[in-house]
Order: sequence, then structure tokens, then C-alpha cells
Amino acid sequence: MTDDRRGGYRGTNVRLRALERGDLEDLRAMVNDPEVMRFSNSYRPISDVEQAAWLEGVVKNGSAVWFGIEDARRGASRLVGTCCLVDIDPIGRKAELRVRLGDPDSWGGGLGTEACALLVQHGFLEVNLERIWLRVFDHNMRALRLYEKLGFVVEGRLRRHDWVGGDRRDTVILGLLREEWRGAQPKAAKKRKA
Ligand SMILES: CC(C)(COP(=O)(O)OP(=O)(O)OC[C@H]1O[C@@H](n2cnc3c(N)ncnc32)[C@H](O)[C@@H]1OP(=O)(O)O)[C@@H](O)C(=O)NCCC(=O)NCCS
Repeated sequence: MTDDRRGGYRGTNVRLRALERGDLEDLRAMVNDPEVMRFSNSYRPISDVEQAAWLEGVVKNGSAVWFGIEDARRGASRLVGTCCLVDIDPIGRKAELRVRLGDPDSWGGGLGTEACALLVQHGFLEVNLERIWLRVFDHNMRALRLYEKLGFVVEGRLRRHDWVGGDRRDTVILGLLREEWRGAQPKAAKKRKA
């Protein structure tokens, strides 16, 4: 059942909406999947208490905006991932983007690209950012391709910056400026709210 009170943004195949208490178990399943966390940070099991405290922190954090990602193709309100802008800096007008789809079987189907496109639009149009940037491990080819599709530009590489799954990894920094994003938008493009 769709709950219209949640608002958000609708794309062709995904919907971004607020995270709810009822998402806690789905969120916990995502972060407790070592395959999913292989591209985020080091893995450790997360308890229901920690997950609830995390959501509480998200709600109270005024410098971040989090969205739940729904797969609109399934016509249901099941959460398939999250995306967010964190460390929103209202003076520098910049923020860091993060995204995660919790089910590896759904990877490669375009949901991540569509979700990030909506999130970037939110960042530039609603948060009035000048710059959105992100960090990605150098072996995460799927994510690198996603960001490239959205116009993100490689700005640097932090050599052997992270310890991931038993290996040292370089972290790649990418950024997208407001003018670059604007230049890539179709003239008639309009904000689509759910
Ligand atoms: C990264 C993530 C959000 C991408 O979302 P997604 O829905 O799987 O990605 P999309 O299908 O939208 O786009 C992926 C692109 O990478 C391409 N791709 C997939 N595997 C690839 C590989 N090994 N090498 C190069 N490109 C690859 C796909 O073909 C697609 O490009 P295309 O549209 O030109 O064909 C998702 O896979 C995910 O959550 N992964 C785990 C967490 C994570 O890595 N988060 C990002 C941390 S920076």
C-alpha cells in the first residue's frame, strides 16, 4: 500500500522517500550483508539496538538528508536501498553523496543511477548546493560507472587510503558542480515529486 504522507520523488523505476521506523529491519539486513558492505567500509554485525540508535541520529542530524529508495517497478513500498547527502555545508554550499542498494541481485538494473540522479537534483534545487562530491573505492567499477554517467568528474585519488575486505584500497574522489549538472539537464526537465 502506498503511503502518500511520505512524500518524496518519483522517477521511472524508483521512488525516494523519507526513512521510517518501519524500515529498521530492512536497513539492518542491508548493513549485515557482507557483500553489500564490501563497497562501504569494514564489515561487522549490527544489532537492532544499534540500528535504532543510528536512525535516531539520522533524524536529529541537521546537516544530512537521507532517503529510502523504493523499487517502483514492484508497485510496493519495499525499501531496496538508501541514499543521502551528508556533511551539508551551507556556507561552502557543498555536501557528500552516498548510496547503497541492499540486495546484490538488484545491482546493475539502473536503480542506483536513477536514485542518484534524483538525489543530485534534490541537492542542487532544494538544498541549493554548488558542489556535490563523493568517495569511492577504486575497485567499485559499478559505482564509478554510475557516477560517470551522472557527470561526476574524478578530482583525485587517496592512495591506499582504506582497508577493505583484507586489502588496502585507493579511494577515488569525484565531484559534480552545479553548472556541470545544469548543462547536462534537458531544457524542459522539471522537478518530479512523488
Ligand atoms: C553502486 C550502486 C549504488 C549502483 O547501483 P546499480 O543500480 O547497481 O547501478 P546501475 O545499474 O544504475 O549502473 C551501473 C553501471 O555500471 C556498469 N557496470 C556494472 N558492473 C561493472 C563493471 N564490473 N565494470 C564496469 N561497469 C560496470 C553497468 O553496466 C551500468 O552501466 P551502464 O548503464 O552504462 O550499462 C549499487 O550497485 C550498490 O549499492 N552497490 C553496493 C554499495 C555501493 O557500492 N555503494 C557505493 C559506494 S561509493
